[in-house]
Amino acid sequence: LVVNASEASARPIPETLFGIFFEEINHAGAGGLWAELVSNRGFEAGGPNVPSNIDPWSIIGDESSLIVSTDRSSCFERNKIALRMEVLCDSEGTNICPAGGVGVYNPGFWGMNIEKGKSYKVVLYVRSLDAINLSVSLTGSNGLQTLATSDIIASASDVSNWTKVEVLLEAKATDHNSRLQLKTSRKGVIWFDQVSAMPLDTYKGHGFRSDLVAMVADLKPRFVRFPGGCFVEGEWLRNAFRWKATIGPWEERPGHFGDVWMYWTDDGLGYFEFLQLSEDLGAYPVWVFNNGVSHNDQVDTSSVLPFVQEALDGIEFARGDPQSKWGSLRAAMGHPEPFDLRYVAIGNEDCGKKNYRGNYLKFFSAIRQAYPDIKMISNCDGSSRQLDHPADFYDYHVYTSASNLFSMSHQFDRTSRKGPKAFVSEYAVTGKDAGTGSLLAGLAEAAFLIGIEKNSDVVEMASYAPLFVNTNDRRWNPDAIVFNSSQLYGTPSYWVQLFFAESSAANVLNTKLQANTSLVASAITWKSSIDSKNYLRIKVVNFGSDNVTLNIRVDGLEANSIQLSGSTKTVLTSDNLADENSFKAPNKVAPTQSLLENAGEEMYVVLLPRSFTSFDLLT
Ligand code: AHR
Repeated sequence: LVVNASEASARPIPETLFGIFFEEINHAGAGGLWAELVSNRGFEAGGPNVPSNIDPWSIIGDESSLIVSTDRSSCFERNKIALRMEVLCDSEGTNICPAGGVGVYNPGFWGMNIEKGKSYKVVLYVRSLDAINLSVSLTGSNGLQTLATSDIIASASDVSNWTKVEVLLEAKATDHNSRLQLKTSRKGVIWFDQVSAMPLDTYKGHGFRSDLVAMVADLKPRFVRFPGGCFVEGEWLRNAFRWKATIGPWEERPGHFGDVWMYWTDDGLGYFEFLQLSEDLGAYPVWVFNNGVSHNDQVDTSSVLPFVQEALDGIEFARGDPQSKWGSLRAAMGHPEPFDLRYVAIGNEDCGKKNYRGNYLKFFSAIRQAYPDIKMISNCDGSSRQLDHPADFYDYHVYTSASNLFSMSHQFDRTSRKGPKAFVSEYAVTGKDAGTGSLLAGLAEAAFLIGIEKNSDVVEMASYAPLFVNTNDRRWNPDAIVFNSSQLYGTPSYWVQLFFAESSAANVLNTKLQANTSLVASAITWKSSIDSKNYLRIKVVNFGSDNVTLNIRVDGLEANSIQLSGSTKTVLTSDNLADENSFKAPNKVAPTQSLLENAGEEMYVVLLPRSFTSFDLLT
């Protein structure tokens, strides 16, 4: 392998090259990245058009002690359903309540992770015509062990109208499978609505689960594409993600049923929170909005203007003046400064659909006129032929076998250098090669990403998909980060992305590899913001099943400028191509780092079979 490290060979890589794509799929957000512990906090699941259900809320007690139902008495206009709990038993008299009382509990998203010493803020809305004496507790999964508890005692006049109550609970023990209980031993009728439990400790205090964001932050993503995917489209338009229903006070959000991935979201993780997350990660938001097209129905281009206005309003919400109509709502939510929204995608995977082109053009011209600097992404693939409509980017998605993706390291070699740039917003090895996240998948993706890095004059952005899976609701395999209420690990596909964390805004060098069909390589240079030193990283995938001894020659540097101390080698490999990580063995397939003892302008290195190696040379 010959690496030309001369200044003349270096080409700047776009600062946006590698980012993340967050989709609300696999309970990635609700019950995942969004730290809310209560599932279906407004008893609204199902929504106003379908009979609502209180699932997964359950009843503590039997028909002789209480009757639980729902009605439409909530004080929140956009989510009218409230829980009505008629308690028949009492602490005295003929019908004595069972010890500890009766009530309801919420197990969260397959168990709440409650940790000793940590604090949790419980907020609920309550109403009763009687005096109340209510215990709010976090308990073990069977309700027996109390981890934290507090009593709410109020006279009838205090709660005769809907009243917001807040309690702070500090856990005195840890249980990863806890639940929230609301119990009483006092006869009467109590209504509940919008019951929330949030850990106090969230990423930057903005409501995100810290451990999950930390793994994402390690990738140094330069953009966050959100909130889908198919989630944006919906099977039917009525169930698509519509940003206006996801902003403002969390209690007032109606929530919606995502009919592609088939679950309800309370939409605590809404448009504002996605913008906030992007900002917290130091990444540009890339907002994908619905263009009047779902999987099964479409708005005619002649009637699409309300959708166009909705997109314009969304842009104003993100970056408009705090005095503007929609910018003022953002300011009221605590963010008077505009968010740095520069990219929007007009739909997702809708190119072939009847109304797409017509609708797209309406969005494109309205947005271009109102916000000339916003970069717009078309769903139509411009890699093999010119688009027949204007765009700044074309979206490119690929899910395929390992051998296909490996050979696609050359996919963009011959793409036209004119016209819109590629945004590879979804790529992954899928199917039997990938299982739920194999080494084989990771290696093929590494080769594909090397190809992207080398072709970053035409590919300006790339992100893996999907990012997250909660193992309790696997809708899509594989995924980059796997979690449950308390555990998490990266699949090989996650670790591969970490090898590219320094690539955005670095320089890519010319490399020449002697014919070997199993190897794919690239080289970049960058100055570290941590130690201000200059690094040269050479990455090589060995897709074959043999050891390869590779001679690496670095040309174009001053003599002896590669330093021995501080130069390292990082390898991702495992015994078998099918090897995967798991909660039990989270690092079975994970990179290992060692010193590169023979670092120099010319070196012989051994590439292990089925491996991805990076050589980080200090120059
Ligand atoms: O990443 C999973 C799905 O794959 C996305 O929702 C969609 O865009 C694609 O078909």
